[in-house]
Amino acid sequence: MPPDGSGSVRTSKARSVVTEPDRFVRKNYFPTMIFQYDVENSEDLNKTLLDLVYAEREQGIAVNKSNTAALGSWHSATALHKNPAYDPVLTEVNAALARISEELNYATDQLLKVTSMWSIINPPGNGNRAHIHPNSLWSGVYYVQASDGGKIEFIDPRTVLIMNQPKYEDKKKRPRDCWTKVTYKPVAGRMLIFPAWLYHGVDPNLSKKSGRAGDRVIVSFNVNQAKR
Ligand SMILES: [Fe+2]
Repeated sequence: MPPDGSGSVRTSKARSVVTEPDRFVRKNYFPTMIFQYDVENSEDLNKTLLDLVYAEREQGIAVNKSNTAALGSWHSATALHKNPAYDPVLTEVNAALARISEELNYATDQLLKVTSMWSIINPPGNGNRAHIHPNSLWSGVYYVQASDGGKIEFIDPRTVLIMNQPKYEDKKKRPRDCWTKVTYKPVAGRMLIFPAWLYHGVDPNLSKKSGRAGDRVIVSFNVNQAKR
């Protein structure tokens, strides 16, 4: 405490700062949770999935969602979780979902269950427009082949914040709690699970690799709670 007993000190920029830890408390409420799960020894799984995904595309089944189909992005049909060939990746998804249920104290007679699953191939130049996944609790993405780009961007869902924004110090890193978006670089073998209501989009794939090696390939899914 400074000599005047005010509980405040003056910085060089004449900013008044309370120094006693017990008098000034910050708590974070209503957070946006993003889970990251790395599959162990994912190389074999990814190799199998790559073959499956390209075989699926060859069959010509495609739907248009957030993907940039006009530029060559491909989105599979959405019931891959019912195809036993995808059981190995479903097993990994279920392991991550069980962990989430446990961590969040979800009712034990309920199970987080995959309700739809699809794959996307984004060749260089392709991305996904910002979107949400309606009617689901959680959504996720598993990176089969990351290529060199196509970061996923999650956007602060609290749109009311747009009404007034503070200015931050240019030279200091903005505190994580004040970010308005966050990006993740895709890593093969990694899974991200996020709230289905969270707006997200995917930057264009900037890979310089040719052929299939340049493709960004993912398996994505929606999740809801169901009675065990
Ligand atoms: Fe999505």
